[in-house]
Amino acid sequence: MDVDGRIDAMADRLAASGDMTDDSWRAVLHRVPRHVFAPEVAWASPYDGPRREIDLRKDPDGWWRAVYDPGAAIITQVDGGPSAPTSSLSAPNVVLPFLELLHPFGGQRVLDVGTGTGWTAALLCARTGEHHVTSIEIDEEVARRAAENLDKAGFGPELLVGDAATDAPEGPFDLVHVTCGVTTLPYGWVERARPGGAIVFPWMPDFSYGYQVRLDVLPDGTAIGRLAGSAGYMMLRSQRGHRTTRTREWTQAVTGVASSTTRLDPRLLLHTPGGGLEAAMAGLVPGVRADLCFDTEPTGEATLWLLEASGPGGSWASVDFVPGKVEFTVEQAGARRLWDEAEAAYFEWLRWGRPPLGRFGLTVAPDRQWLWLDDPVRPVGR
Ligand SMILES: C[S@@+](CC[C@H](N)C(=O)[O-])C[C@H]1O[C@@H](n2cnc3c(N)ncnc32)[C@H](O)[C@@H]1O
Repeated sequence: MDVDGRIDAMADRLAASGDMTDDSWRAVLHRVPRHVFAPEVAWASPYDGPRREIDLRKDPDGWWRAVYDPGAAIITQVDGGPSAPTSSLSAPNVVLPFLELLHPFGGQRVLDVGTGTGWTAALLCARTGEHHVTSIEIDEEVARRAAENLDKAGFGPELLVGDAATDAPEGPFDLVHVTCGVTTLPYGWVERARPGGAIVFPWMPDFSYGYQVRLDVLPDGTAIGRLAGSAGYMMLRSQRGHRTTRTREWTQAVTGVASSTTRLDPRLLLHTPGGGLEAAMAGLVPGVRADLCFDTEPTGEATLWLLEASGPGGSWASVDFVPGKVEFTVEQAGARRLWDEAEAAYFEWLRWGRPPLGRFGLTVAPDRQWLWLDDPVRPVGR
């Protein structure tokens, strides 16, 4: 298949899955061929399969398939192995929903945070005009390769090397497009956007996977918007935290365990569809990471871990689910009783009538950020 055929096939699949609803993006995908931004050797991380190495010379077919797979991120930089990626060419089925949420049009000035390979900067150039796009990347080597890719693809946005959290360029920008996950939005990005402008970013609170969010900037200097869908990205460097630190580091650092039992199936906390519960948890049980680990044998047994996201030394809790049991064993250690908080939060969400994801929103003000339900005057949690 030639390149145009591959791009059309990818666009068709994005349209069929609902990840691209505006067909005018198809022409943009043709103007910015994704393969120009993919290194010859990398790791493909498909949505529905294991991560694998791709090599254009050794297996050209596999390489081309991965590069035009709508659900595959191509990992281009790792920090100690493919399980710890630090830069990537994001998956098209993640990039397109964010671009549609951003809704850029000709002549708008856009700040792209996390240049990575340069693909999203080029897509924005193709949509708004290249003299309107500024992209910032923290890693010098990644930024150097992005400049080469963009040059090869024929685009010339302004490229900056620096920490976007602290050194974002002066605006005003009409739009800020963020391609790394953030738990707390740096307020500087709101200041860089003009009133009526917007910031689109993956909001990744500690509790759950993450969300697509569009915040609209108001004249009073706040930014406000609703959670629009789920999304997971690699984190803004200064907010990486302890997402991949092993559970045993918490249990070794804080002992003095209090044991009890619960009748609530702990799996419900992470296995309730729709995203609304996890959003509520992010607000009601703040600063807590949740992992559900299944037994390696097919027994159906599972352990829910709740870990204070500040890292080992923080509070932790575990709940062991065993099929057929009436009560499950709970262990809690540290200053916070994390299971007690999570169990109370679960029933609070049920009492609210199981609100779905789209009823939750975020407001970012100069001194704080808060999650709300239905209306900013109804904050969720402290
Ligand atoms: C998922 S990749 C970006 C994908 C990219 N937009 C593309 O199209 O290929 C995230 C990027 O954000 C960068 N990054 C992380 N923290 C950053 C920060 N504080 N400022 C600027 N860039 C940052 C990483 O180095 C990484 O290259």
